[in-house]
Amino acid sequence: MALPGQPTLPPTLHTSSPSSSSSSSFSSPPSFSPLPSLSPLNGSSKHSSKQNNVLGFAAGHEKWPSELRIPVYSTSEVIEKMRGKLPNKQVDEHPYRAMYSSLIGGIILDPTLMVIPIDDHMVHRGHGVFDTALLINGCLYDMDSHLDRFLKSASAAKISPPYPRETIKGILLFLAVASKLKTGSIRYWLSSGPGDFLVSPPRNSTPTFYSVAIAKEFNRILEGVKVITTTIPTKPPKFATMKTVNYLPNVLSKMEAEEKGAYSSIWVDDQGYVAEGPNCNIAFVSKERELLLPRPDKILFGCTSKRLLILANKLIGNGILKSVRTRDISVEEAKGSAEMMFVSSLIPIMPVVDWDGKPIGDGNIGEVTRAISDLFWEDIISGTQMLKTEVTY
Ligand SMILES: Cc1ncc(COP(=O)(O)O)c(C=O)c1O
Repeated sequence: MALPGQPTLPPTLHTSSPSSSSSSSFSSPPSFSPLPSLSPLNGSSKHSSKQNNVLGFAAGHEKWPSELRIPVYSTSEVIEKMRGKLPNKQVDEHPYRAMYSSLIGGIILDPTLMVIPIDDHMVHRGHGVFDTALLINGCLYDMDSHLDRFLKSASAAKISPPYPRETIKGILLFLAVASKLKTGSIRYWLSSGPGDFLVSPPRNSTPTFYSVAIAKEFNRILEGVKVITTTIPTKPPKFATMKTVNYLPNVLSKMEAEEKGAYSSIWVDDQGYVAEGPNCNIAFVSKERELLLPRPDKILFGCTSKRLLILANKLIGNGILKSVRTRDISVEEAKGSAEMMFVSSLIPIMPVVDWDGKPIGDGNIGEVTRAISDLFWEDIISGTQMLKTEVTY
């Protein structure tokens, strides 16, 4: 045991028979037996009889828990264990129906094997970008707009995709086919790749592309939600405008909202202008019936918001709206709006009726929000073929 003032040394892992367990459990450096010679502690343990290798600490010291037993699994045991973590369902009932990995250059159907290496820089350095595609009634909606943003984010993050754009598009379509899904979402990632745990991209590795097809139903959102202003700082524009895997600020701001009983949160920048939500943009309807969206250059301006700017023009024609524009919107002006909504591809419109405990407008879903939601559903379900890429199953 370490004496006061002495550094605490790591324990020697106890890997042999109980007879040697009376030896001191603290020494330096820690010593390991080669794995193949490891034997169960205390004879047969609580673990399955198939399991031969168990690491544990010797009993009888204060600092390290002698009940800690760490099995060392074989490849087949790992797969068995991982499979046990999945919901007890058939593979075709699991929400993750198919994954493409450029590492193997093909599609994986078993959710247990839908994994990426721990040394992939997207995992340990956040050096990766991503995007999504909405699969609805056998068509991918607005796929080109998402691919444009994906490649823009990749270039801003200095990651060169391993395939040209048309190949990526082809992979996403084949993934939809392999998943057999008609409705769901497809998520895809580009990473600087596996190879080491350094900061800059691994030298002898090519960037990796991964994609997953997920079963999901989409329903129109007909209820308004509550939001709060988050205390988590906004991302600087350089990072806010690219869709990278660095979502920690987004996660914390969403959690903050949930902790306070709200659905989600709103970022306000250091100049007092509203920015966006953690995974969606925001739009407002002023009392003068203008549709207002925050300026696109400081936020992740979504494909849905771009489409909204076009679709909403139809409402100017029939007198529901007076104008549609993007500009700086102060938090006071935003809170005084007649209507407010979240805008994002997998929603696509969600009414917001309460902000920081005060109603937006009269606290009900407004006429313009309903009309915009109608326009989107029509566009997604039966709208222009230009925005739909049909999957040939
Ligand atoms: C931070 C953030 N802003 C905005 C959006 C909306 O983008 P889109 O409409 O392309 O889904 C998202 C979507 O994931 C997002 O994560």
